Amino acid sequence: MNELLLAGISQVVTPFGVGPKRGAAMRQLRIVPEAAVAVDAGVISWIGPEREWSGSAESVIDLGRRAVVPGLVDPHTHAVWAGDRLADFEARSTGATYEEILAAGGGIWHTIRETTEKSSEEMATLALPRIEALQRSGATTIEVKSGYGYTLEAEMRMLEAIRLLQGRTQSRLVPTLLIHICPERPTERQAYREMVCNELIPEVARRRLASAVDIFVEHHAWSSEDARIVLACAQAAGLRIKLHTEQFQQVGGLELGVEMGALSVDHLEVCSLEQCELVARSKTIATILPGVSLHLGLAAAPGRKLIDAGAAVAIGTDLNPGSSPLFSTAAAMGLAVRLNGLTAPEALTACTVNAAAALGLASVGRLEVGMQADLLVLESADWRDLSYTLGQNMVCEVWVAGRKQAA
Ligand code: NIG
Ligand code: FE
Repeated sequence: MNELLLAGISQVVTPFGVGPKRGAAMRQLRIVPEAAVAVDAGVISWIGPEREWSGSAESVIDLGRRAVVPGLVDPHTHAVWAGDRLADFEARSTGATYEEILAAGGGIWHTIRETTEKSSEEMATLALPRIEALQRSGATTIEVKSGYGYTLEAEMRMLEAIRLLQGRTQSRLVPTLLIHICPERPTERQAYREMVCNELIPEVARRRLASAVDIFVEHHAWSSEDARIVLACAQAAGLRIKLHTEQFQQVGGLELGVEMGALSVDHLEVCSLEQCELVARSKTIATILPGVSLHLGLAAAPGRKLIDAGAAVAIGTDLNPGSSPLFSTAAAMGLAVRLNGLTAPEALTACTVNAAAALGLASVGRLEVGMQADLLVLESADWRDLSYTLGQNMVCEVWVAGRKQAA
């Protein structure tokens, strides 16, 4: 006897088959009209055309001819921060650039100053409504980075805040240690890097506070030489690696990530055709963040070229106060269609199974027997409304592990 049958579904739409989808395979979705989904112990136990269902279930819910898609996976957020960046937003609207503000000690440095003053409990309290907003927008798995702590102690507090948040939401939170920006002076930078390698990463690994280490490779942040040392330490400690790279300048981060077997390289706004081809030949996921292009007015990452080259592309909100105050994973999907040249099926794949792969996860991101029953009931009978509709939430119900979440 199954616990639950979700019936009366206009269409179930999902990527299918194990592993990330690359190139043309990103467009292949399974669409089952007039469908039903059975759930047992939080896992999908049956899925198919409703007329073929012959099992039994303790309870049956009629979804009233609404479409169902997998719960979205947001593979890149900085949801824990304190303070705001409203002054930056105003300064940028009158001509200052994001990089100038950062180089002058503002921007990310400002958020670090605000965040380091908070306890982990205060950080979690600030972050919970952001996580809840992402969940309402369809995210059932959410990566959350540290990176505004800077000091050993405050970075640990950020990761402890993410652990507190894990107990306060049903969405699956995946914590990442982000090595964000660095001291300007070379000697101080080296000392900071040694603290990261000898103290921070080993302690985070020992306490299992993160599953991956991310590093920001950029002119105003880390060089690819420094990043190689930090990421090698992360791998030696048993952690996976990711990079923020090719956002403003080509500084070798993409090549480094591919060479070192990174789970993902993220941003890619200035990625060349050769770099698209390089990442396409690797197992590394190319994560694009259209909210950044919209908010900072940057050229959009070449999503179309990446997919045409055969890459596996994922989409994230990059929710953060400075470059992407975007609180909707579904909106990130819709923006990728408009700004990065993805088709609607590619964008769904990028926000589900490929985003899961960017986090090293295989049990979420598609609706098949044996997978977690993480799914969205839409306000529409047609799944394409999810990426088409702007400014209105088309997610009607969010289910995590077979449990409907409070709206
Ligand atoms: O992903 N580029 C670096 N880090 C973040 C932004 C952080 C901030 O501006 O506060 C990003 O864009
Ligand atoms: Fe980011």
